[in-house]
Amino acid sequence: MAGISRPRGTDDLLPERLAALEHAITVGTQVSSRYGYRRLQTPIFEASDLFVRGVGDATDVVRREMYTFEDRGGRSLTLRPEGTAPVVRAFWESELRQSPLPVRLSYSGPMFRYDRPGRGRYRQFHQFGVEVLGESEPELDAEVIAVAWRWLAELGVGGTSLQLNSIGDEACRPRYREALLQHFSSHLADLPELDRDRLARNPLRILDSKDPEMAPLLESAPRTTDYLCQDCVDAFDRVQEALRAYGIPYQLNPRLVRGLDYYQRTAFEVWHESLQGAQNSLFGGGRYDGLSEVLGYPKCPGVGFAAGLERVALLSRVAEPPPEPQIFALSADRAAAGAVIAVAEELRRSGLRVVADVGSRSLRGKMRTAERAGVDVVVIVGEAEMGQGAVTVRSLRAGTQESAAAAALLEAVGPLLTRSESGLGGVT
Ligand code: HAM
Repeated sequence: MAGISRPRGTDDLLPERLAALEHAITVGTQVSSRYGYRRLQTPIFEASDLFVRGVGDATDVVRREMYTFEDRGGRSLTLRPEGTAPVVRAFWESELRQSPLPVRLSYSGPMFRYDRPGRGRYRQFHQFGVEVLGESEPELDAEVIAVAWRWLAELGVGGTSLQLNSIGDEACRPRYREALLQHFSSHLADLPELDRDRLARNPLRILDSKDPEMAPLLESAPRTTDYLCQDCVDAFDRVQEALRAYGIPYQLNPRLVRGLDYYQRTAFEVWHESLQGAQNSLFGGGRYDGLSEVLGYPKCPGVGFAAGLERVALLSRVAEPPPEPQIFALSADRAAAGAVIAVAEELRRSGLRVVADVGSRSLRGKMRTAERAGVDVVVIVGEAEMGQGAVTVRSLRAGTQESAAAAALLEAVGPLLTRSESGLGGVT
């Protein structure tokens, strides 16, 4: 077909998949609310600077993946590539900043990255995430991990592993940065151009390299955990102790750095065995105590995670499919459209799912459509019957047909519905 196709890297969420995604959000919201988290929603576009400064101008996200545009007023805006910087901004710009700390928030919605599309990787994807703002206790790092972990459990997602690391803070990061510089500088001539550029801008970002030629150099690179200051070591111990209290198993992974610049100390990802390579992370997160100041606000520690909903929904137990209609209301006569609408509305008022077929096809054509839709009952409004205040009720399951008084329609239809969730318990 020669029509206009959807943009590369986007997807249409058809009813079944949308139900799975929404189910994941519903369960995530329920689980996080048991830990005291409340939902918020920030705009889909923000001032570009929020991400340039927040996520970091040496990151792949900012350098190559942002959807940035100028609006008619000449402002540079960006479709949000992630939700953490917007949540911190919203905190400072609202009454949230006056609430007792820490503030616990959850969110979901579309994110945009000009990524190379592939399995589980989109240019518009959806995240569910949580953020805790205003307190730096390491036990909170374990709490957000616990929310994520329980959420996956309730969705029936197994085969996951929690990868945990500490990447230090402003006190010990300079020493680590120096060690990285030394390690990679001695091989400068062998580095791919992109990685040479990364080294010059922010040596830590070189650890994001996906270039296979870099694998041996990355393998022998200095490890973050060998350079932690005592405060970071102590905090990391407390995170692990709290994870044990939650009963959550983890794998220490000193190679884990995360691709966004705002992280300090705890960094984590949850990987799934079926997701390969760079796409194996179901979600990622960590502590970002310096982000607020980088954005021009007062100091405000924070920690959180975000999960890719497309990836989570793919692995979760199938959500209940979206409910199908139970009844078709129709007539052979176009002039009876008003009566068809009235009958359908009457039934809907009782919670039934009714399609009013007011098309101009033949009665046979409409009956065939109702059969294909798999409904239990067809209510046929005939001109002659309407005059007598009656309709025909046909059971497609039993193949029976009877005339029913319009006033007693519900009593006639109720016993013919097969689906247990018909809601008729409260009707008859
Ligand atoms: P992130 O690791 O960039 O972290 O993204 C989190 C999750 O979003 C990933 O683990 C992945 O499941 C999903 N994701 C990322 N890019 C794509 C894509 N192109 N297609 C499909 N799914 C994708 C953040 O965004 C941080 N804001 C997380 C955070 C919250 N840190 C602290 N608080």
